[in-house]
Amino acid sequence: MIVSPSILSADFSKLYEEVKDVEALGATYLHIDVMDGHFVPNITIGPTVLNSLKGKTKMIMDVHLMITDPLKYAKEFQKAGSNIITFHYEAVQDVKKTIEEIKKLNVMVGISIKPNTNINVLKPYLDLVDLVLVMSVEPGFGGQMFIPSAIDKIKYLKKEKEENKYHYLIEVDGGINLETAKLCKEAGCEIVVAGTSIFKATDRQKVIKEMLKM
Ligand code: DX5
Ligand code: ZN
Repeated sequence: MIVSPSILSADFSKLYEEVKDVEALGATYLHIDVMDGHFVPNITIGPTVLNSLKGKTKMIMDVHLMITDPLKYAKEFQKAGSNIITFHYEAVQDVKKTIEEIKKLNVMVGISIKPNTNINVLKPYLDLVDLVLVMSVEPGFGGQMFIPSAIDKIKYLKKEKEENKYHYLIEVDGGINLETAKLCKEAGCEIVVAGTSIFKATDRQKVIKEMLKM
């Protein structure tokens, strides 16, 4: 399993140390939650913060844009060091164009859906994306409970991937702990995003190690 700790739950007063800590414990991806107070009712971080980490970690910068206008900011996020740029299906009018434009930036492109969005809407785009991010909580805040309907979405994505030889990675985000990560793994998930269960853990090392082993 690939583990992508979400810095949303990190201690921002010592962000660099927090990032280096999860890297030293074996995490190879770092999940950056970008919220604009528009697409979701919360405001978090922008390219400036990402830029300040640029060159200071070898982790894959896994950027999750929860914003209404991803194309307006994609270039800035790429310049700030993003390796993966994931946008929300619900946020854009022209999904195909959004995928194509992000691809032109030479980053991996991901697409995400909220818990109440039917997974079938992604069908026309599955051969075009590098990653599909299944939200297992309503986007906006860390520390929420895992919504079990994500499991069927992961199973669907795994089946589609195998049957059609698609190349996308399957990622899940929200309410992930050792228990829910295991369920997601069994369903076919390849990357788990975890904020609270890693950054607020009493024993981070144990949590990351167990997830990596799945
Ligand atoms: C929620 C974010 C998540 C969040 C997960 O909108 O996309 O990445 O940080 O937090 P936990 O792991 O605490 O549910
Ligand atoms: Zn996220």
